[in-house]
Amino acid sequence: MSKILITSALPYINGVPHLGHMIGCLLPSDVYARYMRMMGNEVLYICGTDEHGTASEVGALKEGLPVDKYCDKYHAIHAQACKDFNLSFDYFGRSSSPQNQEITYHIFEQLDKNGFVTEKTMKQIYSVDDKMFLADRYITGTCPYCGYDKARGDQCENCTKVLEPTDLINPHSTISGSSNLEVRETKHLFLNLPKIEPKLEEWLKTKEAFWPDIAYSIAKKWLKEGLQPRCITRDLKWGFPVNKAGYEDKVFYVWFDAPIGYIGITKQWADEKPDERSWQEWWLNADDVRYVEFMGKDNVPYHSITFPATMLGTGENWTKVDYLKGFSYLTFEGGKFSKSEHRGIFADDAINEFSADYWRYWLMANAPEASDSSFTIENFVNTINKDLNGVLGNFAQRVMKMTASKLGETIPEGGKLEPVDEEMIATIQTRVDNYFRFLNEMEFRKAVAELRAIWVEGNNYITKTEPWTIIKEDQTRAATILRLCLNLVRIYAILSAPLLPNTAQKIMGKFGLGMQDMPTLTNFSVKEQINALPSGHPFVVGEALFERITPERMIELQQKYGGQ
Ligand code: 2FM
Ligand code: ZN
Repeated sequence: MSKILITSALPYINGVPHLGHMIGCLLPSDVYARYMRMMGNEVLYICGTDEHGTASEVGALKEGLPVDKYCDKYHAIHAQACKDFNLSFDYFGRSSSPQNQEITYHIFEQLDKNGFVTEKTMKQIYSVDDKMFLADRYITGTCPYCGYDKARGDQCENCTKVLEPTDLINPHSTISGSSNLEVRETKHLFLNLPKIEPKLEEWLKTKEAFWPDIAYSIAKKWLKEGLQPRCITRDLKWGFPVNKAGYEDKVFYVWFDAPIGYIGITKQWADEKPDERSWQEWWLNADDVRYVEFMGKDNVPYHSITFPATMLGTGENWTKVDYLKGFSYLTFEGGKFSKSEHRGIFADDAINEFSADYWRYWLMANAPEASDSSFTIENFVNTINKDLNGVLGNFAQRVMKMTASKLGETIPEGGKLEPVDEEMIATIQTRVDNYFRFLNEMEFRKAVAELRAIWVEGNNYITKTEPWTIIKEDQTRAATILRLCLNLVRIYAILSAPLLPNTAQKIMGKFGLGMQDMPTLTNFSVKEQINALPSGHPFVVGEALFERITPERMIELQQKYGGQ
């Protein structure tokens, strides 16, 4: 048994989560965490909301809420979405928690003490009417290159030219529209990344053999281009006030305290469960912990460079990432999700339409691993009808119904196995081994394809053995086949549990069993497990596992969510 720490990038608190957020790292990390637990490991799985920064201040202003109340509201929305999608976090916390503040302060003090924090005075745009310094992207004006009148202070969306806010013609605040802007001097603190670079490089070398190529090459590219000092403070109200004399009216930059939030949230978890082992056992001098991070690909530089450099700069032995899994993006019918344009399926709508496993299956089967993937309602409907309803659901229902009607609602006894049975067991064992290998390697699309193939083997077997014909001449042989098939249904519940936890529970329930009755997946032997339910064990056929989505429903969904 190993100790495995798993974090999923903390979603920005602003806005309502949609399917893209779900597959962008939340869901894959959950499948991995569930699998690792079933493999008998001690897992700590942490996530929460990323709450600080201008975006929260602006969002709160728009809704007329104090920013802390705004964050309470959206934290609850995110937490509900995670619950609805059955994400099995040990704790879903908040980057704004007092626990995170305490740890952020400690880390900053260590960095400062070790000489890795430098000061610099800079010129920045101040909005007199908003009474705040404006981040570049909160200044709008006319692009000097193409004349686009909604260009942002950091970049023109129209011609893609990178801009300085001072380049803009008629600049004004995006927040209030005011053009009463001044250039003012302001003093900030920087993390001296060039000074930490040698330590970082040495640490990074130890990861080459273990990280996925893409993550390692992004980190190397950043190093090659040379690291720049990174500003870690902001002139904002909403954030942790900087714990250094002369900086009390500033706050830490959202990206400084967000990754530290993984640790802060672990402390939230530990504080609420005083009987649990301390948060430090996962994070400080925790050499027995393997740490796996999940994130969107845009987050890779922060997690492979900035966050490890921050922790290395403390001079303390913090847990740093051992494996980093990045994801590309999910588009909706080829475009962007947009709440305001009613385009795309958001978490709350999704759950009102279908239960979590429908979404979990499609999203994981089509995870944007190597490149972006596109969610289309048509593909979703076809996949659910074909794989969940047609393969898994159909097999379970068919086998149970047939046994119930011909032999009664208990596992039949039957007789000895024949070569065709042994062959099926061997084929499924090979596929199970592949499935576990893909899950270990976090190759989720391949893992789901293999799981589906395992379900298909059950259908192939029953088509080949034809128990409905055989029963007319040889009831014992038919009973053997159905006994194996019923046991396969239980095996499918176990194997599908990381991906389809509700379905797994439903299946176990049909046999009068619960999730606690599942074996660990370590050394999983199909030969052994196919005998787990003895003859005489009762079952109930009950309702089908999945509904078949009709063409009319598909059109309705397309109209409702802007698919067509
Ligand atoms: O990209 C995002 O959604 C960020 N909020 C991720 C932060 S990850 C971690 F650092 F908290
Ligand atoms: Zn332009």
